Amino acid sequence: MESLPVIDLKEIRKVYPMGAGHVNALKGVTVSVSAGEMVAVMGPSGSGKSTLLNIIGCLDRPTGGRYILDGIDVSEMSKEELARVRNKKIGFVFQGFNLLSRVTAAANVQLPLLYADGKPDKKEMERRTVEALSWVGLREYGHHLPNQLSGGQQQRVAIARALVNSPSIILADEPTGALDTRTGMEVIDVIQRLNFQKKITVIIVTHEPNVALYCRRIIRVKDGRIQEDRKVDHPRVAAEDLKEMPAEVEE
Ligand SMILES: Nc1ncnc2c1ncn2[C@@H]1O[C@H](COP(=O)(O)OP(=O)(O)O)[C@@H](O)[C@H]1O
Ligand SMILES: [Mg+2]
Repeated sequence: MESLPVIDLKEIRKVYPMGAGHVNALKGVTVSVSAGEMVAVMGPSGSGKSTLLNIIGCLDRPTGGRYILDGIDVSEMSKEELARVRNKKIGFVFQGFNLLSRVTAAANVQLPLLYADGKPDKKEMERRTVEALSWVGLREYGHHLPNQLSGGQQQRVAIARALVNSPSIILADEPTGALDTRTGMEVIDVIQRLNFQKKITVIIVTHEPNVALYCRRIIRVKDGRIQEDRKVDHPRVAAEDLKEMPAEVEE
């Protein structure tokens, strides 16, 4: 059964001004992703992966081409309109966690709710924050500051923050890049459960071939173009692989 594409890119181009000249970061990318997919985007450094993810996530606008998100043409939207779409539909996870260091884990998770359309009342915000933290296994850690948490825990807080607005899409840019193997696998496990259980569409940028094998599809980008787009027949399941991995001592 083929579902409608939730992400539909046609001939997307991105040009950055650069000194006196410019950089062609994307040179005509055409790709669509169906609801519920879990996709890895791979490719060498500088090939355009983050640019592509930022456009998909409505953080940035293409220079040319057409982007239909959930049936709506977002290619010509203003920054304000894009911000609203982004807040409603998309959660982001970054390599460096991007948590606010001076406020608690719970306050970080709650942040997107403050900007939500029809902002929920305080009690509802707290309920959703606890729910998101519980989902990533950190129910008891809401009052901790980021620097009181391990890297893996910080990334899980970031995932809870991405989750709190019930997005239909999660975009992760090198989410395991700053983590050791086991901790990275725990993060992949959480992301995979979002996909399996909550049916969230997931796109992960990664340069680790091992991480890509947990996705059902691998798209390779090279020099601003899609070089390869293939299915993974039997994606690995992080929860199963974690059972086989020795626990590491937390630093
Ligand atoms: N804000 C920017 N301004 C100018 N050039 C940029 C900017 N962001 C990315 N680039 C350039 O665009 C190309 C693609 O970058 P990027 O999408 O970050 O690649 P990747 O994530 O695959 O490493 C690179 O040549 C990079 O230097
Ligand atoms: Mg990048």
